[in-house]
Amino acid sequence: MSPESATAPTETGRRTQSDVGVAVEPVTPEPVAEGPAPGPEFARTRDAAAPSAGLAVPPRPTGARRSTSPGTGASRAADASAGPVAPAEPHPLAAVWDRLGRKADLRAKAGLTRTARARADAIDLAGNDYLGLSRHPGVLAAAEAALREHGLGAGGSRLVRGTTGVHEAFEADFARLTGTETAVLYSSGYLANLGAVAALAAGPVLLDAHAHASLHDAARLAGKPSDTFAHNDLDDLERQLRALRPALVAVESVYSVLGDAAPLRDLAALTSAHGALLLVDEAHAIGTIGPDGAGGVAAAGLAGDPGVVVTATLSKALGAAGGVVAGPAALRRHLHDTGRTFIYDTAPPPAVIAGAAAALAIARESRSARTELHRRAALAAAALGAPAPAAGVCSPPAGDSHAAAAWAARCAARGVAVGCFRPPSTPDHRSRLRITVNTGVPADDFAHALDTVLEARP
Ligand SMILES: Cc1ncc(COP(=O)(O)O)c(C=O)c1O
Repeated sequence: MSPESATAPTETGRRTQSDVGVAVEPVTPEPVAEGPAPGPEFARTRDAAAPSAGLAVPPRPTGARRSTSPGTGASRAADASAGPVAPAEPHPLAAVWDRLGRKADLRAKAGLTRTARARADAIDLAGNDYLGLSRHPGVLAAAEAALREHGLGAGGSRLVRGTTGVHEAFEADFARLTGTETAVLYSSGYLANLGAVAALAAGPVLLDAHAHASLHDAARLAGKPSDTFAHNDLDDLERQLRALRPALVAVESVYSVLGDAAPLRDLAALTSAHGALLLVDEAHAIGTIGPDGAGGVAAAGLAGDPGVVVTATLSKALGAAGGVVAGPAALRRHLHDTGRTFIYDTAPPPAVIAGAAAALAIARESRSARTELHRRAALAAAALGAPAPAAGVCSPPAGDSHAAAAWAARCAARGVAVGCFRPPSTPDHRSRLRITVNTGVPADDFAHALDTVLEARP
């Protein structure tokens, strides 16, 4: 997900999820109680791309008119002087944009307008650059060298011209770190999840109710029956395993909005007893937890377990972009031969992957940064009344969507960037601030930023 989600998209959905899932079918938002006016950060009320009523164009010329009116400005002027012109009829598709504009207005009324703006200079409590590696000199040097050697883009899909030694080296490094037999790179974590679930779902798919949107989308794309079990609830999972007999169960090791951990050891025991693979999205755990930052699966002693498949993004603690699926050796051929989001997508740029590989190496060694990450996350959670987080995310409740947006806007006005997650980007329908730790932020700035967030609270 992402303040990114704070300012990111979405239609409201039938169910809410964290950057989480199930915005199953876009619907008109429920009217909510009027709150304070959204702050300037969130004040836009209509998509620029959604023109309002009155998108009218002149009538399309009929054949007869075309023959008498070649359409030049001069001839139109001559037509006008010749007599009254029929009023412009609305374009037949104008209604589409009118409808979208009205939906955007309803979202704005519900405090759910989202904007993507160029980021201002601010203390970062919103991004996912947990270890501050996106600007680490070693990471930038590796990326720059690969940029010069390989050029800007990968130049093709992985099976055509897009695979370089840089891609292969990253895959080997990632597999080594996570104790898996093989790892396969994708151009995003989203596509890694879509690809992994589609490729591995030989039957129904069960998802933790708080699982990321990409996993829910993946289950739908896989075209198999799917359902959710109550968040981290092993009893409900067991009931559903008996009822649905899923081929695949998908969870996150560290949940992206509430920041809590999954009971991976128990989950793996239960899923394997029922013959289902366990897919663990380690987006928020790689680099932040586990031995050498190897993630939650390794921390749970499940590295290399044939019943477990790991997915991850390179966009968080590794400060880069890209995605990865890792697991037993047979996964590699299966994804290469059949994985649509692997086969039909341009490979991630070599320079980005070279930077990610350098970040992975640095993250392995970053024990003190991990300790600091956990210290800061615990501090933020205690100060803001959120549960103790498993890694670098905590998300205190923030009242209704208007209040949340106003709180985030007040922080922004005081130079602190925080995430603001509102339905459907939260798993429990509650609007929340989302505070993330970036250990690249100096400790004094972090302390000042936390004070600012507390002072700005409504
Ligand atoms: C848990 C989780 N999975 C997958 C993704 C998607 O990763 P990417 O941004 O690389 O597409 C994200 C966030 O963006 C996430 O938080």
